[in-house]
Amino acid sequence: MTSLTLARPDDWHLHLRDGAMLRAVLPWTVRDFARAIIMPNLVPPVVTGAQAAAYRDRILAAVPDGAQFEPLMTLYLTEDTDPDDVAAAHASGLVKAVKLYPAGATTNSASGVTNFDKVRPTLERMADIGLPLCVHGEVTDADIDIFDREAVFIDRVLDPIRRNTPGLRVVMEHITTSDAVAYARAQDDSLGATITTHHLVINRNHILAGGIKPHYYCLPVAKREVHRLALRDAATSGAPRFFLGTDSAPHTDANKLLPCGCAGCFTAPNTLPILAHVFEAEGALDRLEAFTSRNGPVFYGLPVNTDTVTLTKSPPNLPTHIDTEDGPVTVFDPGFALEWRVS
Ligand code: NCD
Ligand code: ZN
Repeated sequence: MTSLTLARPDDWHLHLRDGAMLRAVLPWTVRDFARAIIMPNLVPPVVTGAQAAAYRDRILAAVPDGAQFEPLMTLYLTEDTDPDDVAAAHASGLVKAVKLYPAGATTNSASGVTNFDKVRPTLERMADIGLPLCVHGEVTDADIDIFDREAVFIDRVLDPIRRNTPGLRVVMEHITTSDAVAYARAQDDSLGATITTHHLVINRNHILAGGIKPHYYCLPVAKREVHRLALRDAATSGAPRFFLGTDSAPHTDANKLLPCGCAGCFTAPNTLPILAHVFEAEGALDRLEAFTSRNGPVFYGLPVNTDTVTLTKSPPNLPTHIDTEDGPVTVFDPGFALEWRVS
């Protein structure tokens, strides 16, 4: 196969940041994607409907002239979140999900949740109105090894929340383990799971063997090879449960290459060429569209995009880094030559 046309993809987990960084990174997503679930972990976080509306306006103002892009806004869940504000933001069509960060789990998660009982009224209201909860699924306890944090979260936090809140729609975001794949497969269609581009490509050796590679450091951190293979199996299965959330998370090189560097891989520019490579290697190019363009909208109750993108087998011409007013941002290096381009 040398050409593949897909319904235009959506990105169900994306960090766009704000200001100069937003203006620099947004065009790369707009090129290939119609819509994206926009992460609310700004400083300060996007907590209220009014803040989400203002952020949405800033994103739309940064869309290049003549291009089409629909930001699907989220609210950052805190222990002080007002269920009425959440319900109003959903009813107006502004907000498509609420994001749960366990406090301290990742970049700008300090305002996240420590006491899950305090967010119960909001979760119950979300179950009533059908508003999905997007979950960063890692415990933060110092005594839990960072490579075990996702599996422990499923048992200690995620499964109890789902049992206590019947009807709540949940997205397990950026899953990284065979434990998460198995859990997702065993649930009904009130549960979805996103998988990133980079977790289909790297395991923890890529970060740590032969010298430390800060550009491969992200959260949740990449795990053993057996887990990467489980993620590839899930993503390429076509199962409706699994869809693309790139978690493209730009940080300047200055902020990555530090004694305490930031977590995040910037994959917006080359996600589709990388995914075509991965799906071709797995003999699953015919299931790429389900992962990038169909399963996500079905979960969120939105139409599949009628517009298309065409991938052709020809090496793409993509930058190794992009320049921003804040400094360069390195594009994720998959470690293999890309053979597919978006035409
Ligand atoms: C994200 C970021 O930089 O905002 N980083 C990351 O490694 N994925 C936060 C997140 O999604 O965990
Ligand atoms: Zn993220």
